Amino acid sequence: MVKDFNNFQDRSGNFLTSTPLAKSLFFARGSGWRRHRQIVSPTFTTAKLKQIATLVDISAQSLSRYLGQSARQGAVVPMKEICGQYTCEIIARTAFGFKVDCIGVDDEFYNNAKNLLYLSRKTISQLLRLIPFIPQLCVKVFKLQIYDRVNLKSHRYFDTVLKSAIKERRIHRQSGIRKATPDFLDLLLKTNEASQSGQVNRDEVDVADSTTDAEGQPVEGLTDEEILGHSMLVIFAGLESTASTLHVCLYELALNPDIQERVYQEMQEVLKSDCPSYEELSKLTYMEQVINETLRLYPPLLSINRLAKESVTYNGITIPKGATVMIPLFHILTDPNIYPDPNQFDPDRFSPEEREKRHPLAFMPFGHGPRMCLGMRLAYLELKQGLVQVLRKLRVVLNEDTTPRKGEGKIKTIALEILVMERPIRLAFQVREQTVTGVPE
Ligand code: HEM
Repeated sequence: MVKDFNNFQDRSGNFLTSTPLAKSLFFARGSGWRRHRQIVSPTFTTAKLKQIATLVDISAQSLSRYLGQSARQGAVVPMKEICGQYTCEIIARTAFGFKVDCIGVDDEFYNNAKNLLYLSRKTISQLLRLIPFIPQLCVKVFKLQIYDRVNLKSHRYFDTVLKSAIKERRIHRQSGIRKATPDFLDLLLKTNEASQSGQVNRDEVDVADSTTDAEGQPVEGLTDEEILGHSMLVIFAGLESTASTLHVCLYELALNPDIQERVYQEMQEVLKSDCPSYEELSKLTYMEQVINETLRLYPPLLSINRLAKESVTYNGITIPKGATVMIPLFHILTDPNIYPDPNQFDPDRFSPEEREKRHPLAFMPFGHGPRMCLGMRLAYLELKQGLVQVLRKLRVVLNEDTTPRKGEGKIKTIALEILVMERPIRLAFQVREQTVTGVPE
């Protein structure tokens, strides 16, 4: 993943789709991936995240308001749905500048984002896979939905919405209009233009590193098809994994009220304002341990892989050219030799002293090395802001109407392509008497 990365740069597998998603960073290979990653990396730096932290906070407050209303009405909340609406709203605002308010409402952007990918298709048509060229023909030539991993209806929606956003941004850039807080699309177009023209504006030094390669040669810009594919990837990756993590994190906090209370106590000690800054959030170390323990027990991706470019031998074991090396994240994260009593939710496993005792690769829910997740820091920001704004005002609890019910025990998980809960989690909330900053609601 690191030392021999040049030989194991690509992912294996053929993601079957006729849409530009096939051309996105996740599926790109060879020099195409390097070029792509170099151009999109500056859109996810810590400096950029600090700029968008206030936008994330707007959605976190809106999530908290919605859950507060549910608490006052005594309603139980379908957690996957609501957390998905929260992360979707953040992506729509921070990546594309769309003013989407989708928490608790039936929203077109969210519905299409949620349905963008078929994660596990179990149609009768799978029988036809016995004849391998048929799916390829159906997707690539006839552009039929039957085998396409992307929902073509959702794709048409994003194709229209994103193309018009890109067009509008280009007009703005040509007429010199610049936004105070540039979003992902602004930054992507900016870096791309700079690499296409080979000229870097002196005001835009942050893009300079991404427009030349290691030899100082200009990097070829992304095509419109690649920009579109990458934007679709950001919508999907930005929504699903973070929403999944947030909803199981709140579920574990409902099952473990003592841990929830520790998170609340830490917020009381650390937070000075109602809208915590990026720096303040980074001081919430126990909260981060809770998030890491959630990612350990419920990693959104169960495994990752790398494709061998050339044959290579390690300690007498040869990995032949073209072989796929599977890295079983979930099995490592729940290995009792590494994490004793692995099914127990225990954030203290991630205290600095405990972490020090383990191999660094014992925890890699975001992958590792130059190809690791691009959105990791954004994910932590969304998770922390969401937890802060919800838990400073509310307690998440189980009762007779929630799933699971109080005293019932944990819901079973099923490992498909991703980890899913056997039954959808539904939780209840109670209003706290005092907020973290001491002001009653
Ligand atoms: C809790 C949340 C998330 C988890 C656990 C997660 C996990 C992962 C994993 C395991 C990989 C593969 C890494 C490897 O092969 O080494 C990956 C790749 C990727 N993720 Fe995430 N992800 C999360 C959130 C996000 C977000 C919010 C975004 C962007 C908005 C994002 C964008 C990407 C991209 C673009 C890649 C492909 C990187 C490449 O191939 O160069 N992810 N993610």
